[in-house]
Amino acid sequence: MVLNFAHRGSVTEAPENTVSAMEKALEHGVQAIELDVQLTKDHELIVIHDHHLRRFNKRAKRLVNQYTLAEIRRIDVGSYFSRAFTKERLATLTELLNVIPEDILINIEIKNAPIIYEGIEKILLDTLQAERRMNNVMISSFDHVSLQYVQKEAPTIPLGLLFEHRIIRPWEYAKSSGLDVCSIHPKKTHVDKQFVEGCHQDGYKVFPFTVNDIETYEQFIQWGVDGVFSNNPAIFSQT
Ligand code: G3P
Ligand code: CA
Repeated sequence: MVLNFAHRGSVTEAPENTVSAMEKALEHGVQAIELDVQLTKDHELIVIHDHHLRRFNKRAKRLVNQYTLAEIRRIDVGSYFSRAFTKERLATLTELLNVIPEDILINIEIKNAPIIYEGIEKILLDTLQAERRMNNVMISSFDHVSLQYVQKEAPTIPLGLLFEHRIIRPWEYAKSSGLDVCSIHPKKTHVDKQFVEGCHQDGYKVFPFTVNDIETYEQFIQWGVDGVFSNNPAIFSQT
């Protein structure tokens, strides 16, 4: 079965990573959603991709971890997208867990570079425990050291290894990392048939990012990928 992820929610229809983006993705009957977590200055988990707010609001001059939750929640992160979303604010992970039903798989990506958020992994696991959402979530990161912590403290949560760069035989790296990796998440430009076969031979699923055009998607499916991260509803609604 192919498992496609709505990447940051449905980003062509609503401001990324927000409640509205998740709701739009759900309207398409999506099976899985990806989102990014970081920490505010007062160590609250906030769902946002960039380390800086400027892409979402030109008047926001600081980094994510230089705002308290109360401060960051006053920033309009919807108007940049469309006037229809002027009331949109960044969401906490807890809020989004309350919007996304339990039968939808959530891939939580820990953003831990270039800023290292000390303790983000524990805060994430505590949140998932408190919200009773330890099941049907997977955790990924470009920071594989973060994943080590997750594995030690929550060994039942599937781990996804994200790769920003081209790695020679990443499946061998995954094996030797000591991590109990479930899936490899490569940049789409690094994927070919041999890549998929190599990962599969060692038991790893392959979920490339971010696949938005149908032609590339169909090629990847032919090569046997297990799913993709996509901004395109026509792709992420396919199973
Ligand atoms: O998790 C897949 C993808 O989201 C990783 O890259 O930069 O979009 O977070 P990025
Ligand atoms: Ca991401």
